[in-house]
Amino acid sequence: MGTRVSLSSSILSVVLVLYSLKSHVCIAVDTIFAGQSLVGDQTIISRDGNFEFGFFTPGKSLKYYVGIWYKKVSVKKRTVVWVANRDQPLSDPSLSELKLLENANLVLLNHLKIPVWTTNSTSKSLNSSQLVIQDDGNLVLRSNSTVLWQSFDHFTDTWLPGASFGYDFRTREGQKLVSWKNSEDPSPGLFSVLVEEDSEQVVKWNGTYQYFTSGVWSGDSYTANPEMRIRQRFNYSFIRNENESHFTYTAINKSLIGRLVIDVTGRIKTLIWNEGSQDWVLYWARPPMQCRVYNLCGAYGICSDDNLNSCDCLPGFEKGSPKDWDLLDYSGGCVRKVSLQCGNKTVFSKIPNTRLPTNNVSLRVEGADKCEAACSNNCSCNAYAYTSSTGCITWYDSLFNLQQLVSGGDDLYLKLAPSNDSSSGRKNSVVVYVAVGVALGVTALVVILVLILCRLRMNKRKARALGSAHRFVFLTAFKYRHLKAATKNFSEKLGQGSFGSVFKGVLPDSTPIAVKKLITGGVGQGEKQFRSEVSTIGLIQHINLVGLRGFCSQGENRMLVYDFMPNDSLKSHLFSQDDSKTLNWSTRYQIAIGIARGLAYLHEECRDCIIHCDVKPENILLDADFTPKVADFGLAKLLGREFSRVMTTVRGTIGYLAPEWTSGVDITAKADVYSYGMVLFEIISGRRNLKQCEGGKVWYFPTWAAREVISQGQPVLSILDKKLQGKADIGELERAFRVACWCIREEETRRPSMGQVVQILEGLLDVNPPPITSYLQEMVENEETSSFFSHGYSLGSNSTSF
Ligand SMILES: *[C@@H]1O[C@H](CO)[C@@H](O)[C@H](O)[C@H]1NC(C)=O
Ligand SMILES: *[C@@H]1O[C@H](CO)[C@@H](O)[C@H](O)[C@H]1NC(C)=O
Ligand SMILES: *[C@@H]1O[C@H](CO)[C@@H](O)[C@H](O)[C@H]1NC(C)=O
Ligand SMILES: *[C@@H]1O[C@H](CO)[C@@H](O)[C@H](O)[C@H]1NC(C)=O
Ligand SMILES: *[C@@H]1O[C@H](CO)[C@@H](O)[C@H](O)[C@H]1NC(C)=O
Ligand SMILES: *[C@@H]1O[C@H](CO)[C@@H](O)[C@H](O)[C@H]1NC(C)=O
Ligand SMILES: *[C@@H]1O[C@H](CO)[C@@H](O)[C@H](O)[C@H]1NC(C)=O
Ligand SMILES: *[C@@H]1O[C@H](CO)[C@@H](O)[C@H](O)[C@H]1NC(C)=O
Ligand SMILES: *[C@@H]1O[C@H](CO)[C@@H](O)[C@H](O)[C@H]1NC(C)=O
Ligand SMILES: *[C@@H]1O[C@H](CO)[C@@H](O)[C@H](O)[C@H]1NC(C)=O
Ligand SMILES: *[C@@H]1O[C@H](CO)[C@@H](O)[C@H](O)[C@H]1NC(C)=O
Repeated sequence: MGTRVSLSSSILSVVLVLYSLKSHVCIAVDTIFAGQSLVGDQTIISRDGNFEFGFFTPGKSLKYYVGIWYKKVSVKKRTVVWVANRDQPLSDPSLSELKLLENANLVLLNHLKIPVWTTNSTSKSLNSSQLVIQDDGNLVLRSNSTVLWQSFDHFTDTWLPGASFGYDFRTREGQKLVSWKNSEDPSPGLFSVLVEEDSEQVVKWNGTYQYFTSGVWSGDSYTANPEMRIRQRFNYSFIRNENESHFTYTAINKSLIGRLVIDVTGRIKTLIWNEGSQDWVLYWARPPMQCRVYNLCGAYGICSDDNLNSCDCLPGFEKGSPKDWDLLDYSGGCVRKVSLQCGNKTVFSKIPNTRLPTNNVSLRVEGADKCEAACSNNCSCNAYAYTSSTGCITWYDSLFNLQQLVSGGDDLYLKLAPSNDSSSGRKNSVVVYVAVGVALGVTALVVILVLILCRLRMNKRKARALGSAHRFVFLTAFKYRHLKAATKNFSEKLGQGSFGSVFKGVLPDSTPIAVKKLITGGVGQGEKQFRSEVSTIGLIQHINLVGLRGFCSQGENRMLVYDFMPNDSLKSHLFSQDDSKTLNWSTRYQIAIGIARGLAYLHEECRDCIIHCDVKPENILLDADFTPKVADFGLAKLLGREFSRVMTTVRGTIGYLAPEWTSGVDITAKADVYSYGMVLFEIISGRRNLKQCEGGKVWYFPTWAAREVISQGQPVLSILDKKLQGKADIGELERAFRVACWCIREEETRRPSMGQVVQILEGLLDVNPPPITSYLQEMVENEETSSFFSHGYSLGSNSTSF
């Protein structure tokens, strides 16, 4: 009976499939036969469901195209890899038709039935052709077994694994990828990659200006891409014979979804789909720095690698088309806020440290004053520069391909109409306060204390205002004798932290707990106040924050009861000599993301921004499955008045403290970002960032790593913890290294927010390598800062632990 039912139902489904094939093409079919067509929302899907082919509309655009996209990538992130009618959009897909003619020509007809695109293929045997979307993303038109046309021979902006990208010596033509115009318009943009006769892959702007070359194939990699040698995710191969040279790559793990694309911002990128974060992750990009892309920011735009947003307008200018800028098309550049009137007074705005545009006209005048006068007196002069090497140079056309450098470059003087807002130029903002710090010595520590205390009091006032409304929502008030019993009279000490000792305990229902006995030293606040503040902390619940279960406040006793974390702190794993405790790379990376999420929550998602003030490996606890949990948040606030304890905090945290702690400026959440960066370096290296060497010299990991990777061009693997023996995902390691470098920038405004850090680590946000010139200098300054801290304070072994 049962067999018969399933048999008839499968017959039914076959009939259904056949039926739908006849009337219109149905889902889960990968082929169109001669005489059939696709209309409206119909698509065909490759056999294993990797790719889908049909009509689509990119983003919020109202235009329709026919193309191929990943079926397994979520619709929200729909990623199109090939487009038929790039520059012939359709206005109405329901009246348009993609038809495979009897003679094997594939044509796309618009709503007026006019062909807008065709493969130009023909076959003598009528009704024999078929169009198949394959699982590798290739759309193939065959007649019998002959391939008449395939999408892998006609690239748009994407080169998929398995496709050949090459040069044909017979036709003397190389293949080409051309970027989309913007993220919602597939029509050809300004950037292209093409293969030259000598097999070099070059990247050009507007088909003319070449701003990057891969170099030649050296047997195992392109010279500008040495990391290809590590066949970690992809296998590359290069073929050359008398007819052609071509290059292919394939994913080593067949289930990996990866692609190479020339993106709308002019860089070649290899991206990998991450199932976990449901987004694309950057594997590598060329040119490595965004501002190497020629004229990325358009006329009067200026590019900065020192900024998370690459493009900006020159002072006195505004975005020509903000809508296009939002879609990452900066080519429209910027326009004057106030246009210049000939004969009216003008002023010059100095833009220091600029990479100058090259379309200059040189004038034979001596002296900066005369140069300025010459530009001032000629209505069509837009800017001038005067340097010892170039003399007086002036610009009469639009200024383009400018870059804001952090140091070096030249001063550009830009002609502007006088305006009410007197922002003349940007400030060169490398602040040096190390020398002052050294001189102040111990006094600085006093400053720190005062700062912390001021801050704590301020926070306290805020917390009080908030706390009263949400009392004891999640918390249990424990009796002292119950905790005493649960911890067997405080016998099993887990550690000693900045604010007191921690003991292991077990509740009567066998839940393990950690009890923190706070040191109140007689100056602890009253019970009511304590309860109110603890309840504020208790409200903060997040997977990456240690959960507070309850508290005890009886007589002199002040205790906090936390969930017990079976895997101890990050410190005990990172710096342990015991190999069994070594964390592998992917665990480390997940921990790094988790900590960032926890801190981002404290900074951005709680009602009141909570600055942790004491981020360090000791304060990162690990759950049974190594989910990181940030501990001790909110305690700085709770125990603010406790002088000696704060002292301990400062002492225990040397090496993680942001420079602004000593500079007298207000402490913001960016101080935690700095500390996080230091922790991230330690996650990478598996050792403390600071080591005191013989003769009082301090070895500082971030400086060493930056020199190694950035200036000497070593592979980023060279800075990885030796215990991991090179076993790490290069892309992740690179991202972690870069973001750590950005986090410890001296200037807090240049540090990313914790939210951005999460996005960068998840690969959602691209991050440039830190700029080389200024960066190393800054690192050296940091090195001095750290030796300042090391005066009179021993590091490492003597510092406190949880
Ligand atoms: C088909 O031929 C036309 C005219 O020769 C040409 O413009 C078009 O680019 C060709 N289409 C393809 C897909 O090669
Ligand atoms: C091809 O198929 C169409 C309908 O599917 C039919 O009208 C036509 O006669 C066929 N042509 C040949 C040569 O078989
Ligand atoms: C293509 O295949 C069909 C049947 O499968 C056959 O009748 C026809 O002769 C073949 N044509 C060519 C050119 O091979
Ligand atoms: C690109 O080049 C074409 C000529 O090849 C020119 O007409 C066009 O203005 C250029 N585009 C830009 C943005 O300069
Ligand atoms: C890489 O490609 C080469 C040549 O196609 C092949 O011989 C080799 O087995 C491939 N290696 C892997 C790991 O796929
Ligand atoms: C090159 O092309 C010629 C003519 O098309 C062909 O005979 C020869 O086999 C090709 N050589 C290779 C290596 O494919
Ligand atoms: C390939 O990747 C899939 C999904 O990421 C993974 O489950 C599988 O274990 C990998 N296979 C190999 C051989 O690494
Ligand atoms: C100079 O600027 C003023 C206001 O800024 C304007 O009213 C005047 O017309 C301008 N003169 C010329 C010659 O354009
Ligand atoms: C100025 O123009 C000359 C020739 O056009 C060029 O060689 C030089 O590099 C330009 N100078 C700058 C600073 O771009
Ligand atoms: C301004 O400079 C341009 C370029 O050098 C020149 O052609 C023009 O004659 C000058 N105009 C005046 C009024 O000097
Ligand atoms: C400058 O002038 C504009 C109008 O021209 C006005 O909207 C703006 O508020 C003014 N800015 C200042 C700082 O006065």
